[in-house]
Amino acid sequence: MNLGGVVVAAGSGERFGGPKALVEVGGVPMWRLAADLLESAGAAPVVVVGDVPGGIPGGRRRRDSVAAGVAALPDDVAWVLVHDAARPLATTALARRVAGRLLEGDVDAVVPVIPVRDTLKRVEGGRVVETADRTGLAAVQTPQGFRRAALAAAQAADDRDASDDAALVERHGGVVATVPGDPANLKVTYPEDLALVEALR
Ligand code: CTP
Ligand code: MG
Repeated sequence: MNLGGVVVAAGSGERFGGPKALVEVGGVPMWRLAADLLESAGAAPVVVVGDVPGGIPGGRRRRDSVAAGVAALPDDVAWVLVHDAARPLATTALARRVAGRLLEGDVDAVVPVIPVRDTLKRVEGGRVVETADRTGLAAVQTPQGFRRAALAAAQAADDRDASDDAALVERHGGVVATVPGDPANLKVTYPEDLALVEALR
């Protein structure tokens, strides 16, 4: 029962101002850092989705890119780690934590989470309209781990978009477990995030 990896490195990087997978952190392109990370946690092979050397074509939405990557894995891969190329600071310890929990074999997916520390408010037109109750709320990161059959079934079940793959599995009735995430595992979303990432590296 093999563990494979999918790095999602496609997308237009609208908020960043252009595609970001080829952007370098510490002199190494982010897509390669992501692929090396999954390999360091025992994933083989690792498929990279996006317009990068050796990559396969991505899709319009993130979920389409993930589906393309999973479809490209060999049939004997039963467990999959999915990771954003845009998270260059994810550590091997984090990826191993996700893989280790996944391979216990009793859940459909595993996500790293960070409890929300700030107060959350709903804002419209520059004014606060509501203060949300943050009890039980967590921010979710990648790498995420999946039982391949559960992910494939969830992908096939509907075509609605979701901001991560675990959401598809939840919607389809799957069991999604959590492991502690890492506050330093930032996603490069806006251009100013690069300076933060370089400072933390
Ligand atoms: N991604 C992908 N295919 C897409 C959209 C996103 O492979 N169609 C990947 C990105 O490369 C990134 C990760 O999913 O590593 C997280 O997405 P995000 O940070 O939102 O990247 P973009 O969608 O490219 O950026 P934006 O939402 O600002 O356009
Ligand atoms: Mg996006």
